[in-house]
Amino acid sequence: MTMLETERLLLRPLTGEDFDDYAAMLADPDVASGLAESVGTSPADAWRSLATFIGHREIRGYSHWAVVEKATGSFVGRAGPWQPHGFPGLGVGWCLARRHWGKGYAAEAGRAALAYCFTELAAEQVISLILPANARSIAVAERIGHRYLHDTEYRGQSVHVYGQQRPT
Ligand SMILES: CC(C)(COP(=O)(O)OP(=O)(O)OC[C@H]1O[C@@H](n2cnc3c(N)ncnc32)[C@H](O)[C@@H]1OP(=O)(O)O)[C@@H](O)C(=O)NCCC(=O)NCCS
Repeated sequence: MTMLETERLLLRPLTGEDFDDYAAMLADPDVASGLAESVGTSPADAWRSLATFIGHREIRGYSHWAVVEKATGSFVGRAGPWQPHGFPGLGVGWCLARRHWGKGYAAEAGRAALAYCFTELAAEQVISLILPANARSIAVAERIGHRYLHDTEYRGQSVHVYGQQRPT
């Protein structure tokens, strides 16, 4: 899977070596509670979540990348394309450790992931499923050019579908 570089970030494949950082990120209830793909906060929950993102890459050939801060080498979170079984389209998503919120990193990674979906995955449309109360994620979606499309039920939750078409 390709690695991407943006102004401040490196997006590289997630590996098992990210587990400690990944578990620390999800242990924060403010992080876990934002996710439309609901996940708990325990290390075992984080292990299964990380394994799912790595497994998604094996099955689909793409997945969320680990987002790394170039200046420090710190693990920032994960972001990237995503389409597990039952997901209603090709998605892009983002999830950052709490200490990295408020720096523009999610939008920076999200824009790179979106461009990857259109150029490398030849997507006609890219969507994001967002819990209605998640104002920060809605703001990221709007920053990368998504617009509200409609609501849907996904894995027992009502979610907003944001998205955009391939640029002409
Ligand atoms: C959703 C989430 C990724 C949003 O992160 P975020 O840091 O708010 O989003 P952005 O990366 O777009 O950053 C925007 C903020 O950075 C600020 N910022 C600071 N420096 C910046 C820079 N150089 N460039 C751009 N923005 C910058 C912006 O002003 C903005 O601040 P504001 O929110 O106070 O207005 C984060 O809250 C998160 O990981 N939540 C938990 C998981 C989650 O909910 N995931 C989404 C599931 S759908």
